[in-house]
Amino acid sequence: MNQPDSSSEVKDGAPGACELITPFGGRGLVDLVVHDQDERAELLERARNLPVVPLSLRAQYDLEMLAVGAFSPLDRFMPRGEYESVLYEMRLAGGELFPIPLALPCREEVLRGHPREVALSDEQGVILAVLEVDDVYPADILREMRAVLGGRDSAHPLVIEAKNWPSHYLAGRPRVFDLPRHRLHGPLCRTPAELRARLAAMGHSTVVAFQTRNPMHRIHEELTKRALRAVGGTLLIHPAVGVTRPQDVAAALRVEAYEVLVDTYYDPGDTLLSLMPLAMRFAGPREAVWHAIIRRNYGATHLIVGRDHAGPGPDSHGVPFYGPYDAQAMAEHYSDEIGVKTILARELAYLTDEDRYVELNEVPYGARVSSISGTQVREEYLAKGKRLPEWFTRPEVAEVLQRAYAQGDDAASGS
Ligand code: ADX
Repeated sequence: MNQPDSSSEVKDGAPGACELITPFGGRGLVDLVVHDQDERAELLERARNLPVVPLSLRAQYDLEMLAVGAFSPLDRFMPRGEYESVLYEMRLAGGELFPIPLALPCREEVLRGHPREVALSDEQGVILAVLEVDDVYPADILREMRAVLGGRDSAHPLVIEAKNWPSHYLAGRPRVFDLPRHRLHGPLCRTPAELRARLAAMGHSTVVAFQTRNPMHRIHEELTKRALRAVGGTLLIHPAVGVTRPQDVAAALRVEAYEVLVDTYYDPGDTLLSLMPLAMRFAGPREAVWHAIIRRNYGATHLIVGRDHAGPGPDSHGVPFYGPYDAQAMAEHYSDEIGVKTILARELAYLTDEDRYVELNEVPYGARVSSISGTQVREEYLAKGKRLPEWFTRPEVAEVLQRAYAQGDDAASGS
């Protein structure tokens, strides 16, 4: 699978009659959802007598992404051999590129008696799926973190979270009756098949995806509009609304801000907002590669990768985990193999006196540059009820953040 995947070539068809890029791996979209009503009833009945594995929110998001084909060609939680291959070779058992391991954390007690099948439930005990158990193995979390994140610094959000993960991993192919429900996000949270249908109807084979886990400020808007101008086609604003860092702005709020921004400042003829239930890992370079594979499954031909893409912020010594362009370098390296072109965006800065954005290396000598950090947003603006400036964020977005902050929602500020 080291060769470029020629099936990724697409022709920009006439509006209304366009073909999108094929899913990654050349075998179509994986679909693990049980659609047949009789089969669903029979499986649900069987699930009642199986040991139940309650899933964390992260695992529920992973289950959903897997079930709807967002991780195609992956169609199961990884058995040990495949997991090891992903850790050290970034390859699935079939040889396809895949940089992030996917297995279900599970408490050892559930596995007494070596069940061949288990039921997977949400935190309320609602059964979501039945999993045929292929493998069970002890989770060596720190080793995994070192391989995937490139380190295991105690300040990394995934390292912090993983301290509470159960001791074992469960592998196998789930059959899913009920996708976890994202009431907050509703129909904007489209599956790859649903999104592909919408994109195809928009009439362009070229689809530029933008990943974000933050409210979109003016710099993000500038990045997306520059990318669309550069390659044409459809701009897909595709925020991750699964697990992010605890201090990030809450997804429900972000969604409100994305909707008002896209409605007001983008052309519905060439831009689509869709949400993705991805639980982020903050794995920087590996995550950028993963994002490109996933976006191909959703129908994108291009992915914007800017400064410190999927970076977790500073480590315990106050130093960024990754170099600002490490993620770009890895995404670019695998771009041909994935079949998704990376749009490499250099760091943008705002020129105060000229009221425009330029790449940092183009700032004229002596020119004034303005920036506002996450902490400043919180402490100097939202906490004091002071309006964020328009060069930093659109007033409609500022209003959403301010309103949420005034209602006591600390997550309105991000970090
Ligand atoms: S991410 O975790 O989803 O990457 P974020 O939402 O902050 O974080 O960034 C979304 C995208 O915008 C990423 O590709 C990131 O690299 C890019 N980006 C954010 N800020 C800048 C900036 N000032 N200059 C260039 N790219 C940026």
